[in-house]
Amino acid sequence: SKAPKRVLVTGAAGQIGYAICPMIARGAMLGPDQPVILHMLDIEPAKTALEGVRMELVDASYPLLAGIVATTDAEEACKGVDVAVMVGGFPRKAGMERKDVMSKNVAIYKAQAAALEKGAAPGCKVVVVANPANTNSLILGENAPSIPKENITCLTRLDHNRALGQLSERSATHVSKVKNAIIWGNHSSTQYPDVNHATIDGKPAREVIGDDAYLDGEFVSCVQQRGAAIIKARGLSSALSAASSACDHIRDWVLGTPADGSWVSMGVYSDGSYGAPKGVIYSFPVTCKDGQWSIVQGLSIDEASATKMKATGEELVEEKALAMECLADA
Ligand code: NAI
Repeated sequence: SKAPKRVLVTGAAGQIGYAICPMIARGAMLGPDQPVILHMLDIEPAKTALEGVRMELVDASYPLLAGIVATTDAEEACKGVDVAVMVGGFPRKAGMERKDVMSKNVAIYKAQAAALEKGAAPGCKVVVVANPANTNSLILGENAPSIPKENITCLTRLDHNRALGQLSERSATHVSKVKNAIIWGNHSSTQYPDVNHATIDGKPAREVIGDDAYLDGEFVSCVQQRGAAIIKARGLSSALSAASSACDHIRDWVLGTPADGSWVSMGVYSDGSYGAPKGVIYSFPVTCKDGQWSIVQGLSIDEASATKMKATGEELVEEKALAMECLADA
């Protein structure tokens, strides 16, 4: 049988943590034959809640769960990890300025980058979920120089899956037959969910849906605002779907995307493809093979799309500047 892989989940006592730990323990992230050791990190005020999650994981008797490390010590949590799912962060509270939230998160991601730099297993793959996800992952990457840049990513798979879900509902076609939507740019309301290359049951999505006004209007805003809609409905964040999509993100990265020409969206270090700004983490369409992602090249981009891709890129450049200011102030 395979040697266990160590998977770090930060913010493990929170909403997403509670949803994702059992998924990982069931094999949804690394496959049904891969034992895992869960490393769960949270902060002192959540220590008791974290212990509660640990107790439940023991009680669930998962065949694949080979061990649990539950701790409030970042260095202990990061030791030897093969995968790091960074969910912990400082939430925006009513009345807080954007810069205040950024400043708190930049400090957290700088510190945890140092802990990963020191302790993570070689080849550790990182996905940042906590918002602002793209910029948190950028700060993590900049402060963990020994981790290759291609191993630092952020989650936009939830947005990607949301786009597939909307196309599926609208066309009354099972979601497994909906492919190749793209999320470009920032995991924020400026993201651009692009359906120009999407297919439904092998046919162009625009043809099947037959309603460009919907696809260019309501569809885009629905995907962009879906997180807020779920908070409004549940009174809590979209933890289940975020957890499931983070498992999809790592699973496809490690085990590969299907060989049928379909792709997924991932926030990765921009190399300037499609005119995206370099030096930020930008969501692109990617395929994965042998544990490596690569940006899908050569897609045609119309003018309306290019404008939206540029706007979300500009927001990332601004966020980066703000984050750098916060680091300089600290
Ligand atoms: P939550 O508030 O329930 O949980 C966050 C947890 O992080 C808490 O247990 C907290 O104690 C912990 N935490 C805070 N600072 C920490 C630190 N320095 N180290 C370790 N843990 C720390 O929030 P929830 O709903 O689980 O969401 C987590 C993050 O994910 C939020 O930033 C949210 O905005 C983001 N999110 C991102 C999505 C995406 O698609 N990228 C989708 C949904 C949420």
